[in-house]
Amino acid sequence: MKIKVINGPNLNMLGIREPGIYGVETYDSLCEKIRDHAGSKGVEVVLYQSNHEGDLVDEIQNCLGDCDAIVINPGAYTHTSIAILDAAKAVSLPIVEVHISDVSAREDFRQISYIRAACVKTVSGHGTDGYLEAIDFLLENN
Ligand code: DQA
Repeated sequence: MKIKVINGPNLNMLGIREPGIYGVETYDSLCEKIRDHAGSKGVEVVLYQSNHEGDLVDEIQNCLGDCDAIVINPGAYTHTSIAILDAAKAVSLPIVEVHISDVSAREDFRQISYIRAACVKTVSGHGTDGYLEAIDFLLENN
């Protein structure tokens, strides 16, 4: 199984940005943790991060015919982007939405998730372990 893990804006700033909310683990160590976990489960994983909405749309489209499933944390675009939702619907792949923080316990503007409508599962508030849970879910359910 080949899974693309896509991270949106500001997730490259993990370890620096608001550590009280997102923790002290860096983006690089998150990537290593995901690679190690995927490797131990025999899953091929491709990691991608961008701060740009159109690039995220392109990367979702690129999964067509190339990946079996997607794990995505769209960052703030979760709450604003119909384009990312449409791309996710267009590829018709199993997608798990991940948020490091518990968005349900945060500001009102974080209560809307556009991409959720195209996802088979949401993992929120489990820190970076949420990415590993998402991979395990996709492995067990596909
Ligand atoms: C986030 C939550 C979003 O509301 C926020 O804009 C992010 C990160 C999370 O992982 O908890 O950038 O997706």
